[in-house]
Amino acid sequence: MIKLHDLTFEPYISANELQEIVAQLAYQIYQDYKDKCPVFVGVLNGSFLFLSDLVKQYPGDCEVQFVRFTSYEGTSSSGEVKTVLDFSNVENRDLIIVEDIVDTGNTLSFMTERLNQLNQKSYGIASLFLKPDAYNKDIEIDYVGMVIPNNFIVGYGLDYNELGRNLPEIYQLKQQHND
Ligand code: IMP
Ligand code: MG
Repeated sequence: MIKLHDLTFEPYISANELQEIVAQLAYQIYQDYKDKCPVFVGVLNGSFLFLSDLVKQYPGDCEVQFVRFTSYEGTSSSGEVKTVLDFSNVENRDLIIVEDIVDTGNTLSFMTERLNQLNQKSYGIASLFLKPDAYNKDIEIDYVGMVIPNNFIVGYGLDYNELGRNLPEIYQLKQQHND
């Protein structure tokens, strides 16, 4: 069990399981992109460890860049999204958007609206986690590492008010029992 700020979290997904999930995703993406040189676009901050492991497992030529949009405060999404770091030089490139987690999908739909204004050749979307019970958009996510229930998780890049990103495994919020 670990404590971050005021909340207690319990172990959920081990570092070994994460590596297996990421290897599987790298393999799937490679099957689709082996004749191309995709640009992996990591969505900061949450995807930094996932993106780094994903490209280490990716056996072909590829490039890396980052974008950053802010929306999340505390343990529930605020709904409003702002651009902090935009896409750059994506003309005629095959992009793979790399997200840590898709929750409501607000960040994702903001990003796809932005991509509609740019002239990339194509884009695919990879997310390590998806919370289908919270997801309320119909944008297709091409590569999903793991589908999880609507619980708040931290670790492996994901934070609770900036803490927990450095944990090598995933923890979930411990349910409070008031009896
Ligand atoms: P969305 O816009 O609601 O889909 O949420 C997007 C962002 O919120 C994700 O990229 C994460 O950075 C953050 N987020 C969503 N769910 C969680 C969670 O369970 N733990 C930590 N961060 C989360
Ligand atoms: Mg994120």
